[in-house]
Amino acid sequence: MDLIGQLGAFEASAREAIRGATDDTALEKVRIEYLGARSGKLKDLQSLLGTAPKELKPVVGKRFNEVKNTVTTELDERKRTLARPKLAAGGLDVTLPGVAFSVGRRHPLSQTIAEFKDITGRLGFTVATGPEIEDEYHNFDALNIPYDHPARDPLDNFYLATAEVGTEKTSGQGKVIRMMRSQTSTVQIRVMEQTPPPVRIVSIGRVYRPDAIDATHHCMFHQMEGLMVGDGVTMAQLKTVLRSFALAYLGRDVQIRFRPSFFPFTEPSVEVDMSMDAAGTRWMEIGGAGMVDPNVLKAVGYDPEQVTGFAFGLGVERFCIRRHGVDDIRHFTNNDLRFLRQF
Ligand code: DAH
Repeated sequence: MDLIGQLGAFEASAREAIRGATDDTALEKVRIEYLGARSGKLKDLQSLLGTAPKELKPVVGKRFNEVKNTVTTELDERKRTLARPKLAAGGLDVTLPGVAFSVGRRHPLSQTIAEFKDITGRLGFTVATGPEIEDEYHNFDALNIPYDHPARDPLDNFYLATAEVGTEKTSGQGKVIRMMRSQTSTVQIRVMEQTPPPVRIVSIGRVYRPDAIDATHHCMFHQMEGLMVGDGVTMAQLKTVLRSFALAYLGRDVQIRFRPSFFPFTEPSVEVDMSMDAAGTRWMEIGGAGMVDPNVLKAVGYDPEQVTGFAFGLGVERFCIRRHGVDDIRHFTNNDLRFLRQF
C-alpha cells in the first residue's frame, strides 16, 4: 500500500477505535496506540515519510498533518463527551442552559385592589359588587341627588342611548335611563336594598366620567366605596377606619386630614386628604365621606331612628400613585410593558 493509502487506513481505524472507547481509560489506551510519541502507529508512519519519492513529499506531508489533526481533534471531542454527565432516560441533558419562562404579573391596580380588600377585610368589611351599567335611580335618585342637580348634567356623565321603558323605579317619566355609573356609591343602595342592617361592606370597581384625559384625569378610574350601618355608628368610627386604612396601605408617615364638605347622600360630609410629603406641605384629595343622610336610609327602607351609618368613597389610583411614585394616571391604561414590569 502506498503511503497515502496507509495514512487513510490509519485515520479510519483510529476513528473507529475512538468511537469504540466508552470510558477515559479505554480512550487513553487508544491515544497511546495511535498517537503515542514513542511507539504509536502515527510515529511508525512518520518514520516512513522519508522514503517517499521526492516529488510526492509535499503531498504526503500535507496529508500526514491532516490526518494527525483530525485524529487529535476527534480524540479531544470524545474526551469531552465522556466527561459530560450521562443523559437521563428520555434524553434530558441537565447541564444544558434552561429555558427561561417569562412569568406574567398582576396589573398594579389589581395588586392595589387585592391589598385594599385584605386591609378592609381585617377591619371587618366584606366585599360587595354592583353593575357598571347602572340606572339613574341607583346612581342619583336613591342617593338623594335632586333631579336638577348639576352632577346629572349629560356633559358630565356617560348616559346610554339605549334607554328603555321598564318597570324599575325611575326619576323620569316611566323610563329607565341607563348610564355608566359615575360613582361606586350606587353599590351602597344595592346592598341596603338586599340586606337588613347591620351592614359593613366595601365595593371596589370602575367608574366612568367624560373628563378630559390628562396626567391626573381619566374617563375611567377606580373607587373604593365603604358603608357601615348599624346601631350607634359614629363619625369617630369613620375617621378611625379611614385613618387605619390609609396607614395600613401607605405606611405610618402619611397624614390624613378631613375638611368639611357637602354631598347630597351624607350629612355631615367631609373631604379626605393625604399628605404627600413628611412635612405636610403638599396634600392630595383621596375621596369623600360622611354620615349617611337619613333620606338615603329611608329610600332603602331603613329606619333612620333606629340605625346610623357612615360611608366613604376613595380614589384607588391616587393611593397607588402615591405609594409607587407614579407620575401619570395614563400609565395604568397604556399597557407599556416597561411600566408594568416594575410592579
Ligand atoms: N361618590 C363620591 C364621588 O364620587 C365620593 C363619596 C363621597 C362617596 C362621600 C361616599 C361619601 O360614600 O360618603 O365623588
